[in-house]
Amino acid sequence: MKKFLWLIAFLIPFFLMLYFGKETFYIENELAADDPYNYHFVLITEEVGNDYWRLIEKGAKEAAAEHDIYLEYIGPKVTDNEERLATFDRMITAGVDGIITKGMNDPEFAELVRKAASRNIPVATIDTDNEQSGREFYVGTDNYRAGLLAGKTLIEQTTGEQRVAVIIGLATAQNQLERLNGFEDAIAESDRIELVDVAESNITELGAAQATYQLLKKHSNITAFFGTSALDGIGIVQGIEEMRPRERPYVIAFDILPETLTEIEQGTIQATVAQYPEKMGRRSVELMLEIYNKKTVDSIHFTDTGIVDASHIHNGELIVPVEEGEQP
Ligand code: BGC
Repeated sequence: MKKFLWLIAFLIPFFLMLYFGKETFYIENELAADDPYNYHFVLITEEVGNDYWRLIEKGAKEAAAEHDIYLEYIGPKVTDNEERLATFDRMITAGVDGIITKGMNDPEFAELVRKAASRNIPVATIDTDNEQSGREFYVGTDNYRAGLLAGKTLIEQTTGEQRVAVIIGLATAQNQLERLNGFEDAIAESDRIELVDVAESNITELGAAQATYQLLKKHSNITAFFGTSALDGIGIVQGIEEMRPRERPYVIAFDILPETLTEIEQGTIQATVAQYPEKMGRRSVELMLEIYNKKTVDSIHFTDTGIVDASHIHNGELIVPVEEGEQP
C-alpha cells in the first residue's frame, strides 16, 4: 500500500506537469501560427510618458497598423541615457526587425549601431541624429536651422538691447546643442542681443521653472528667454510668474504642444518653433519598410519647422498652417 501511495504522489505532479506544459506549448504555437505581423519594429523613446514622444508614437503606430507591422514603443520613464543604451542593446539581442531611436552622441551608441548592422538589424535615428554612427537614415527637424529660426525671430520681434538666457533640455543631447548653436549664430548677427547664460531643465516643466527662477535671481537684467525643448516654454512662464521681474521677459519656446499654444494666446509666450512629431513617427516606419522592400533610402529626411505666434492660434488650436521655415 505504501508503495502504491508513493506512486500516486509521483504520478499526479507528473501528469499535471505534462498537461500544463502541453497547454503552454500549444498556446505559443497557436500565437506563432496566427501572428498577423510582417515585421517587428521598435521605437525607443527618450521618455515614455512625454507628450512630444507620444505624438511620435502615434504617427509611428498609425503607419505600422497600415502595413501590418508590430510597433513596440519603449524607453525610460524619465530621461536616462544609460537606460536608453541598455534598451537599445536588449532589442538587438531580441533580434527585432528594425530599431528607430533618438540619436545619441555617446560613442557606445555608434558601437550599438554597428552591432545591430552585424546582425542585419537596420537602425534609424529620429528627432536627433548621429550621422557618423552609420545609422541607415534620420527623420526629424533640422535642429541647427530651427535654432537659427528662433534667433532670427527674437531679433525681429524685439527692439532695443536684449539680454537672453537659454534653457536647454539636456546638455548631452545633440539636438539641444544644435538648436543652441543655430540660435547663437543668428543672434551674433545683431549687436543688440547678448546671450547671458545657459541652464538645463532635464526636459521637465519643473526643471525649466526652477532654472528660470535661478537665472532671474542670478542676472536681474534678463529681458528674454529661449527654451529649446518641448516643456521648457511652459516651465519658463512658471519661473517668471514666481519671480515676478519688473519687466516681463520676451519668451520664445519650442514645439506646439497644447499648453504652449495656450500660453501664446494668453501672451505669456510670444512665439514657438514648430516641429511635427507625428509626421516623424509615420515617416520613420514607412522608410524602415522601404529598406525591407529593397528601395534606396536617402540618409536625411528633414521634417518641417516654422514659427508659430498668436496670429496662428485661435481657441488653443493652430488655425493657419505654418509653412516650412515660415517667418511670422
Ligand atoms: C525635443 C526632444 C525632447 C523633447 C522633450 C523636443 O523639443 O525635440 O528631443 O525629448 O523636446 O520634451
